[in-house]
Amino acid sequence: MAVLISQPKFQRIALLAACSLIVTYFLLERSDRIPYQANWEYVHTSFDWANRVPKYPIPESLMTRLPEGTPRDLAPVQHVFTEGELSETHNKTQADRRDAVRQAAIKTWNAYGEYAWGRDQLSPQSLRGADGFNGWGATLVDSLDTLWIMGLRKEFKQAVRMVAKIDWAKTNSRDCSLFESTIRYLGGLLSAYDLSGEKVLLNKAAELGEMLYAAFDTPNHLPANNLNFIAVKEGLLYASKRESTAAVGTLSMEFTRLSQLTGDPKYFHVIDNIKKHFERTQDTTKLPGMWPMFIDLRNDFITEDNAFSLGAMSDSAYEYLSKMYSLLGGLDETYKRLHMKAALTIKQHLLFRPMLPDSYPASPPDILFSGTVLSNGKIIELLPDVSHLGCFAGGMFALGGKLFHDEEHVKIGERLARGCAWAYDVFPTGIMPEISAVVPCKQTPELTQCDWNETLWREKNSAAPESGGRPLPKPFTVMRDRQYLLRPEAIESVFVLYRITGKTDFLDLAWRMWQAVKAATETKWAFSAIMDVNADGSTTKIDAMESYWMAETLKYYYLIFSDPELISLDDFVFNTEAHPFRLLKASGGGK
Ligand SMILES: *[C@@H]1O[C@H](CO)[C@@H](O)[C@H](O)[C@H]1NC(C)=O
Ligand SMILES: *[C@@H]1O[C@H](CO)[C@@H](O)[C@H](O)[C@H]1NC(C)=O
Repeated sequence: MAVLISQPKFQRIALLAACSLIVTYFLLERSDRIPYQANWEYVHTSFDWANRVPKYPIPESLMTRLPEGTPRDLAPVQHVFTEGELSETHNKTQADRRDAVRQAAIKTWNAYGEYAWGRDQLSPQSLRGADGFNGWGATLVDSLDTLWIMGLRKEFKQAVRMVAKIDWAKTNSRDCSLFESTIRYLGGLLSAYDLSGEKVLLNKAAELGEMLYAAFDTPNHLPANNLNFIAVKEGLLYASKRESTAAVGTLSMEFTRLSQLTGDPKYFHVIDNIKKHFERTQDTTKLPGMWPMFIDLRNDFITEDNAFSLGAMSDSAYEYLSKMYSLLGGLDETYKRLHMKAALTIKQHLLFRPMLPDSYPASPPDILFSGTVLSNGKIIELLPDVSHLGCFAGGMFALGGKLFHDEEHVKIGERLARGCAWAYDVFPTGIMPEISAVVPCKQTPELTQCDWNETLWREKNSAAPESGGRPLPKPFTVMRDRQYLLRPEAIESVFVLYRITGKTDFLDLAWRMWQAVKAATETKWAFSAIMDVNADGSTTKIDAMESYWMAETLKYYYLIFSDPELISLDDFVFNTEAHPFRLLKASGGGK
């Protein structure tokens, strides 16, 4: 405006008119992204992490920058839905289903608002707030983008008003988990900003980013997952000695998006350093191609452990490899290589077909699971685990298959996604357990079907006798954890496979899963984790409803029944907490 003051009057008027036209156009054009002008009461974090003097500073001249150049045209991921397909499937049936999920989200949100507003989560039985994530309001932040996507703008606005007042220096704990804070809080804020354009959210994300960045202020600049606020202020922080691979490998997307949105390269620099260690060690572990569940970061990334899986402790480290390729606009081929090598090893050693009872009228379903491997470098042993957390793998294979033109991987992804959906179906509640095991078929390169062997199944069962309750459905042999914790991974893969293949039976599958989840977990006020998916009749509830129920589970159930263009997989990439980040577009491209 300073320029305008010295202009003659008519020029000023002309300029003002032009400006207001531009502004009007801009607001109209982006009206979906900026629905209101609000003056939030903004509370700055009371400790200024940006101006803390680091013990081990990284000079800006040595920092790795975001890859330069024009983003590439990525391979299309989503099935091209024709008008006919859309009008046939996305009719009143899907609209009713979508609305049922939305009602569940409203119910959850209202209960959270009533009994746990601003807290990390609602305990749905005792109707109290609980704080397992530093008390900054995990459910509040984790729900932002879900509210936006479901068109719950009033609720979104109420949430932003609270988020504007979060003080990251005020917490009930002297440390925080770098991993959890990154995927839930940082991921939630960045995604909600990407969708809404609400600046307050980016500011809060940047404040949090400054704090989380301090976790890398260690002698080797590898992170301490346990960010102890006192130790780091005294310059006494060391990288984790025994860290889960998931915690190390699941920071890259959020830190990259933060660098992209703020222009500050330091976040990208530290996660690119982690990538280099993953690259250096990928071929030298006890199962080359994969990294063990635990890594020693303090001693520069020692990968000597012997257990490998896609379940807890590892999962999202693999999930993020191909997603980083997308997020960086295809400009870093390293992520493609890391993903392809890992996928090859997973296919050879972790994937298996369950032995299925011959009670199927036509032919048994063509499904796969991903187990756990123990390896000493010579002997490789497969444990035929089936874990709910590992159910994300279907989506991972299918997404990588599309991005890197490998149709076989898309097929594998479909078989994995159908495996978890099938496991939902065989339990009396219609939901699969947290951790169980089955009898595997012998692993062959084609992962072919084997005949049912009743003797073998009974043998495995008696080796691990049931501790009371109903007998397990075939072919399950062991239930290490019978709970269902409101987790999203099975519907996540079903959603991704629907968007990728366009096969409409996924919609009916998803609806069956949703009805089962609702029936087993709904309470008078909200939804609740349950004790035993093998229970017949009513379920015993656990007093727990983590923030990912709103962030992930409800979002994926809502999106699968929505128009496929809503959060298209060609425009967004989801972090592991189901927060969609906007993809860079090749010049001239974009929808
Ligand atoms: C509506 O969609 C369902 C699939 O979800 C389909 O079975 C049904 O035939 C469709 N109805 C119409 C009128 O197209
Ligand atoms: C079935 O399993 C039992 C127990 O492991 C084994 O002895 C038997 O040979 C198997 N039968 C067939 C037909 O493979």
